[in-house]
Amino acid sequence: MSLTEPDRLNTADGPTVAKPKAKRVFIKTWGCQMNVYDSNRMADVIAPLGYMPTEDVSVADLVIFNTCHIREKATEKLFSELGRLHPFQKAKAQRGERMMVAVAGCVAQAEGSEIQRRAPFVDMVFGPQTYHQLPEMIAQVTRGAGLVLNTEFPSETKFDQLPEEHKPPGVSAFLSVQEGCDKFCTFCVVPYTRGTEYSRPAAAIVAEAERLVRNGAREITLLGQNVNAFHGDGCDGKPWDLARLLQCLAEIPKLKRLRYTTSHPRDMKDTLIAAHSTIPQLMPFLHLPVQSGSDTILEAMNRKHTSDDYRRLIDRLRSARSDMAFSTDFIVGFPGETDDDFAATLKLVRDIGFTQAYTFKYSRRPGTPASAMPDQIDATIQNARLAELQSLMQEQQDAFNSAMIGTIMPVLFDRKGRYQGQVHGRTAYMQAVHVTAPERIISQELPVKIEKVGLNSVSGQLAAA
Ligand code: SAH
Ligand code: SF4
Ligand code: F3S
Repeated sequence: MSLTEPDRLNTADGPTVAKPKAKRVFIKTWGCQMNVYDSNRMADVIAPLGYMPTEDVSVADLVIFNTCHIREKATEKLFSELGRLHPFQKAKAQRGERMMVAVAGCVAQAEGSEIQRRAPFVDMVFGPQTYHQLPEMIAQVTRGAGLVLNTEFPSETKFDQLPEEHKPPGVSAFLSVQEGCDKFCTFCVVPYTRGTEYSRPAAAIVAEAERLVRNGAREITLLGQNVNAFHGDGCDGKPWDLARLLQCLAEIPKLKRLRYTTSHPRDMKDTLIAAHSTIPQLMPFLHLPVQSGSDTILEAMNRKHTSDDYRRLIDRLRSARSDMAFSTDFIVGFPGETDDDFAATLKLVRDIGFTQAYTFKYSRRPGTPASAMPDQIDATIQNARLAELQSLMQEQQDAFNSAMIGTIMPVLFDRKGRYQGQVHGRTAYMQAVHVTAPERIISQELPVKIEKVGLNSVSGQLAAA
């Protein structure tokens, strides 16, 4: 059978080749920014097969759930989402069409067989390190090979196999530079789901950053589970640390802002601290998870730093750049946490003056050392501590935002606002900003006079440059 016209692709210098039939992929992402990055890259991997993204799950030929395993709720969300999806898959089958279902990411890595048992209509299960093999996996499912379970940690890295980015990155882009974790905090599943630490070679990172900027990015956030442990082959043949990599990226013209996340306090080296004073593009805002203010709990967590180590680190960062602000992660109700331990956490929040924090109740993860510790904390106590911590954080966040009223802040505009005539941007401190302005300012960094603060955002007017 010959192909009809739309199915043929003319190449300038060769014979006509078959263009893949247009298909639709629906991708839903949970978890950290690395999962967001991975989801974008999965779309890149299957774009050459003809898969275009859709927001409408009912018409999708392929559904990918890119999952997170960090807390128990994250896993349960996957199963309820799969339950909601199944009728759509059946409806499509009744129309004589197929909807392939894939579970990717960290739950896939950790619970492959559980997924198979609880949701047998899933066609593919693959972890964070094998999604570059999606075309082969799709081919296997199409051939009727049954469930494709692909949760090995391959010896080759996916980064060497990924195609170039398919869709424009937007003004603010993510770039994974490091993966995995060897730290084994006693509460955490990441070392098991993402594997051991690996840093990409600098040349590949720089090439990717240059492409992102060429395609419109003005801000790049370097990603890694332990991004400041980055130690890749440098462009000059020597090993580079994160500070050296940032220095090199700062030379890319038009790239206005650099950030990196997530860092571990133990890997905050002198060179990186110094980079905050010498690289103007590096934003004065750092997310540096501390988890607890109590040394007993930090030790039980295997964090290998004390609360005073952390305080000293913040002092040094502030000496490098006085306008630094800090955000962090806290876990409350870790096994054995007493009222005094929790009071030490509240004290640390005040001492550091965090402007933002992600706060979590400790969640017992099977297989992690903390899940077997005695003195697991009652949910009622966990809830009360979480509420107290969150209300203190809200106070600090409000105070930080309010202090901006009347000041002029550089804002990088990245997209249209929710309302007609509005443009959305972010300050150096990641505060969302809305101004009434023409859309053409998107991708520019402009001074804004801050006039009002909302719950999690600020608003104002463009100031004269
Ligand atoms: N690599 C980063 C963070 C990884 S996970 C770091 O080292 O800090 C993101 C956050 O989830 C963690 O900082 C921690 O606060 C939280 N988290 C991880 N495991 C958890 C668990 N079992 N229960 C509750 N929160 C958890
Ligand atoms: Fe998890 Fe600790 Fe590794 Fe962060 S450093 S990913 S919290 S084990
Ligand atoms: Fe979740 Fe995996 Fe990220 S467990 S937080 S998606 S590394």
